[in-house]
Amino acid sequence: MPGGWKRSTETDGEKLSYEPRTEESGHAELPHSPAGTPRSWDGRQSGSGDTAPHYIPEQPRRSLDEVVLPDTVRQRVELALDLVAHHTLLYDTWGLRSIDPHRRGTALNLYGPSGTGKSLCAEALAHRLGRPVINVDYAQIESKYVGDTPKNIVRCFEAAREHGAVLVFDEADSILGSRLSRVSQSADHAVNVSRAVMLQQLDRCEGLVVFTTNFPRNYDAAFVRRILTHVQFELPDLETLHRLWEQLLPEALPVDPGLDRHALARESAGLAGGDLVNVITGAAAVAARRGGESGVVTAVDLTAEIESARRARDEVGHSPEPGTPAEDTVRRLSQAEVPGSLGPSL
Ligand SMILES: Nc1ncnc2c1ncn2[C@@H]1O[C@H](COP(=O)(O)OP(=O)(O)O)[C@@H](O)[C@H]1O
Ligand SMILES: [Mg+2]
Repeated sequence: MPGGWKRSTETDGEKLSYEPRTEESGHAELPHSPAGTPRSWDGRQSGSGDTAPHYIPEQPRRSLDEVVLPDTVRQRVELALDLVAHHTLLYDTWGLRSIDPHRRGTALNLYGPSGTGKSLCAEALAHRLGRPVINVDYAQIESKYVGDTPKNIVRCFEAAREHGAVLVFDEADSILGSRLSRVSQSADHAVNVSRAVMLQQLDRCEGLVVFTTNFPRNYDAAFVRRILTHVQFELPDLETLHRLWEQLLPEALPVDPGLDRHALARESAGLAGGDLVNVITGAAAVAARRGGESGVVTAVDLTAEIESARRARDEVGHSPEPGTPAEDTVRRLSQAEVPGSLGPSL
């Protein structure tokens, strides 16, 4: 029985309590995350009627070898790994602590258009470091009970520390954003307390925290400074698209042997890796419907799906709002506001 956070309903609201993992449920038995979408929050999906949020570390499955990136981006990712791998050498032996005394762990920000591999890369970083991953979606730690959101943030960090896990905040702009101006005063205050707690936890955290976002301009300047390395992900260039086509077509998928991956790369200009996944899946479904001897994915199938993916990219959804100009609106907490440890006072 894996440990985790359990939510129970009490007269004054919902309460969380932590059930420690048992010896037998150590890292070796961590659940594998589903490919490409590591999930660590299985409360509502557990089917057990238990609606508790669980910060459950998962063993990352996808490796950096699977991540196809232009060289410039790859080098930034490698630099991020160097920062983690050589932390002690850099800060203790080579004296960087003297110019950066408060930095304990490493925070990274992966930003760029949707579908360019940021979440995949976050999982792969954990894989390379040999650590489990805890994936947190802000919508899931945000609580309707005033004061619970900051506690949930503290709990994420506690769980990461307990398990030596890499903590990943997907769509992090919602938590790292600047002060909201359209909300009521008390809600505004609550949001800012949450952000201040985040800042405090980041300062204390000794592990690796990875933020990903499609809306980097929404980040508050206080967080921008705290995050040691920002890695910009881009839509793939022609050469990267070609490598993506080589990488993403599964070996077991029956494809026309004459398929020209260079032509596919040219046709799919402007699409991201995530779009290609949808294209391949759509084309595979079309081939499956044909079945029999014609049940093979052809260039025509893929071209049709590429066109439809491009239309969707242009017409469905919306581009990022020009973000709130980054201001340093997150203030430090007074001692009275600092949520305590997870003792009985919660
Ligand atoms: N750079 C990439 N290299 C390899 N696969 C990619 C890449 N970008 C996207 N993909 C594929 O698309 C899927 C979705 O990408 P994801 O990491 O969720 O994008 P993002 O987090 O940037 O929106 C991945 O699981 C992977 O299969
Ligand atoms: Mg993502």
